[in-house]
Amino acid sequence: MKYVIGVDLGTSAVKLLLVNQQGDVIQELSKDYPLIQEKSGFSEQNPNDWVGQTIAGLSDLLKHFEGDPGDIEGLSFSGQMHGLVLLDENNEVVRNAILWNDTRTTSECNEIYEKIGKERLLRITKNLALEGFTLPKILWVKNNEPNLFNKAKRFVLPKDYVRYRLTGHLHMDYSDAAGTLLLDANEKNWSKEICDLLNVDVALCPPLVESHEEVGFITSEIVKKTGLSPSTRVFVGGADNACGAIGAGILEEGKTLASIGTSGVVLTYEENGEKDFQGKVHYFQHAAPNAFYSMGVTLAAGHSLTWFKETFAKNESFDDLLADVDSVPVGSDGLLFTPYIVGERTPHVDAAIRGSFIGIDSSHQRKHFARAVLEGITFSLNESVEIFRENGKRINKIISIGGGAKNGTWLQMQADIFYANVVIYQSEQGPGMGAAMLAAYGCGWFSTLQECAEEFLKVDKMYKPNVKNVEKYQTLFALYKQVYRATERLSQGLLEFR
Ligand code: XUL
Repeated sequence: MKYVIGVDLGTSAVKLLLVNQQGDVIQELSKDYPLIQEKSGFSEQNPNDWVGQTIAGLSDLLKHFEGDPGDIEGLSFSGQMHGLVLLDENNEVVRNAILWNDTRTTSECNEIYEKIGKERLLRITKNLALEGFTLPKILWVKNNEPNLFNKAKRFVLPKDYVRYRLTGHLHMDYSDAAGTLLLDANEKNWSKEICDLLNVDVALCPPLVESHEEVGFITSEIVKKTGLSPSTRVFVGGADNACGAIGAGILEEGKTLASIGTSGVVLTYEENGEKDFQGKVHYFQHAAPNAFYSMGVTLAAGHSLTWFKETFAKNESFDDLLADVDSVPVGSDGLLFTPYIVGERTPHVDAAIRGSFIGIDSSHQRKHFARAVLEGITFSLNESVEIFRENGKRINKIISIGGGAKNGTWLQMQADIFYANVVIYQSEQGPGMGAAMLAAYGCGWFSTLQECAEEFLKVDKMYKPNVKNVEKYQTLFALYKQVYRATERLSQGLLEFR
């Protein structure tokens, strides 16, 4: 039997999957690392933590592997998007990575619009200037830490740095490059035009490759540290959302997924890059060859639930926290939550907005708040579903992945709020499975990713919308949508106290 490994470099942990030729997950493990949040709006990580924990994870995986390491034919990556890793002339890290959920770059986004113009930016990159994207972070370092910026000779994204440390080869794939705001999406090349207008040297950008391309082998040093075979082939991999899409079989028009991890996304397949969403949703290259996807993002989806648990139920498990949400009726007895606890992206591009509980009543118990958090996260994702529908997409079935796919009550809630059938897979592994599938495809096990998906992905269950709940949720959703406008100025006013 042959195997592949999918390495998913997430925001809270690196997750590793060992998958056989039938798509069975033989081993899965994860190793976490800290988030560095010096100030409100700042979110960083030390790239060496990613490398150390990936090596530790691979080493554990190999220790428990009973076969011959040479039977692990391929390895590929999925990674948190947009995070800026700056490297010096020796490819050493210049400063901590600034992550996708860091929102310090509002003035750099304005600088991008001033110097490039919104229309031109949309035409070249198909996306707006959002605080989370990489280019504003590059400008932030340039504007605020010129000494460090002068040392930087290259930038890469998180998984690219880990792959570099494992193989000695530095690349970036198109699906992740799309989220930098430096890729000319029509030309599939770095935009010299954008670089020149912003006075950024285009040489800072790494070589571009396809996600299923092979980049080489593990270095002898890492072979020694992990027990991997020197014959294991390493494939580039892709952005976590693109890999999540592959791992959920979002490989043809009409397929949509909802992923609830730290962030939450609703993502739908696009055959080409010719649509015009006017920046209302992100529009990125897929990690599947010659395809695109469009996507709306809730910055704090799982993060809202984790924040709630850590703050109000620290010593309990998620299962305990959610055990009695079923006993709370639809609408949490009049309690509404907006998950803007680190700002928002879709549909409100607003780094200053913050979350709220509206309608707190003295009869409410913790279980009401827990249910309201689940409902608020799902309402936020539904705003993206709504944009897709308004743009002519038919969305009647959604594949659910991530933390949101692990709780039956939440899955039924998704079906009721999205007003669509919600499907889960038997062994739902999210982006890590997409990475493993890229390796399987790269190794030549299948002639297309679709063929791989047919072999690897097995439907477990479908949740159908409950008509009575759908109606109630439609009323609640209309109220939910008003909370943003009602709290926008309040959040601005509170900014100086954060
Ligand atoms: C997408 C985004 C997040 C990260 C999470 O634009 O910023 O979903 O990819 O890792």
